[in-house]
Amino acid sequence: MPLLAKVPGGAVLGIDGYPVCVEVDVSAGLPSFEVVGLPDAAIREARERVRAALRNSGFEFPLRRITVNLAPAMIRKEGACFDLAIALGILAATGEISSSAVEDCVFAGELSLDGQVRGTSGVLSIALAARSAGFTMMMVASENAGEAALVDGLDVYGVNTLVEAVGHLCGSLRISKTPATRGFADASLQFEEDLDFADVLGQDQARRALEVAAAGGHNVLMVGPPGAGKTMLARRIPSVLPPLTWDEALEVTRVYSAAGLLPAGTSVVSTRPFRSPHHTISAPGLIGGGRVPRPGEISLAHRGVLFLDEIPEFAGHALEALRQPLEDGFVTVSRAGGMATFPARFMLVAAMNPCPCGRGGARSGVCTCTPTAVQKYLARLSGPLLDRIDLHIHVRKVDMNDLEQARGRETSAEIRERVVRARQTQQARFGGLPVRANAEMRPSELRAFCRMSREARTLLYAACARLGLSARAHARVLKVARTIADLEGSDLVQDQHISEAVSYRAFSLRG
Ligand SMILES: Nc1ncnc2c1ncn2[C@@H]1O[C@H](COP(=O)(O)OP(=O)(O)O)[C@@H](O)[C@H]1O
Ligand SMILES: [Mg+2]
Ligand SMILES: [Zn+2]
Repeated sequence: MPLLAKVPGGAVLGIDGYPVCVEVDVSAGLPSFEVVGLPDAAIREARERVRAALRNSGFEFPLRRITVNLAPAMIRKEGACFDLAIALGILAATGEISSSAVEDCVFAGELSLDGQVRGTSGVLSIALAARSAGFTMMMVASENAGEAALVDGLDVYGVNTLVEAVGHLCGSLRISKTPATRGFADASLQFEEDLDFADVLGQDQARRALEVAAAGGHNVLMVGPPGAGKTMLARRIPSVLPPLTWDEALEVTRVYSAAGLLPAGTSVVSTRPFRSPHHTISAPGLIGGGRVPRPGEISLAHRGVLFLDEIPEFAGHALEALRQPLEDGFVTVSRAGGMATFPARFMLVAAMNPCPCGRGGARSGVCTCTPTAVQKYLARLSGPLLDRIDLHIHVRKVDMNDLEQARGRETSAEIRERVVRARQTQQARFGGLPVRANAEMRPSELRAFCRMSREARTLLYAACARLGLSARAHARVLKVARTIADLEGSDLVQDQHISEAVSYRAFSLRG
């Protein structure tokens, strides 16, 4: 008599989870084991793992005709997260466990040959999809249990072995529910203690510009000779950003979980990401993509900082591909393996030397570069990309022997207090709109929320005409001015706010 079992499972495409039904049919006939709905290589491996895991856990592997179907068939599936559901489906179809024990629970876990249940990537996304599909129970590898338990309204059971899973489903072993995780276990872990702006001597202008950038979520370009402290400054930006909210932490965790980059023993990402890919990175590595779409660095930097050091050295097409995500806050990549949308709302922080030799551009006197070489170097940054970087700042080398530079250095915590206050003003202003920081304002918000004094308006138009700024650059200057006014607690954008915002645009890269 043929027996059919249906076991709920789940998979991830991009960072979106979706439910998958694992149907297992065991019938009389020559012994065989077929899996439909997976790519070839993955099928072979899944069959081997499931067969060995069942045998090594003391279960009989049925010498009958076994057909496994992963529905829906249209969606391309990858990964090993179906192993547990397939093994349990075989046991249910042969009557080892009751079918009713497996039909209300979503299973996600890889099996090792000896019957251990291993963690898989994307469990948070699968858990979210399970809850949306109306499930209230989920069984995963112990190491993924904390991650699944981030989802409200889902009872999560973590297991170490297939034997434990079967014991729990048959009622012979009681596994307790994983406690729900709601909030950060230790808020002090939200910042890297050893990176503090108090370490930076002098650099008052750069510190001010980075505070403005952090307050409004603006992009920054730092130009200066090697050793000026550009990298040092950039690495400290997360320390002055507001702590991640719980919802932001979940967004970031989904990306890291789907990419398989959640550190072992971690169920939620609690610090703002800081990513600094090397300039040799490929465009898919930066933007996202691949045969089966995976998030790129811009998505791993979601809600945090993407630091592109030596930005002119990056491949031109990789930089050009940044333009759309910089506007939209997300990226869509499509490949044979499917199409996926990844979040990519990050602060771009770029650094570069003033010229190829690094010694300082035409005016420094010690630069050995020819004007053509300098021109070529700078031309690698296209106008449209530069337009999207709100603040351009010069970082000069600090004289370490100058005692003046050591005075009154503020800590990151002090700067962060002002940034948080400015962000709270923005949140109150934007209310229910899909905009969280000034940098994200669209034309309608610009019109509604950037009321200028008459002097400010006159100054803005004059400056744009003088600097030959594009309409996009003009809008960005206004957003930066809005942030400067917010830091000052001013509802009206005044002329001093405009003039500071313009100063971050005023220097020419060509000279
Ligand atoms: N303003 C500064 N205060 C303290 N240390 C500095 C400062 N500027 C540079 N340094 C020191 O010089 C090192 C090199 O700086 P770095 O950030 O790598 O420069 P860049 O990225 O501009 O080449 C830093 O690690 C730091 O030790
Ligand atoms: Mg550097
Ligand atoms: Zn030079």
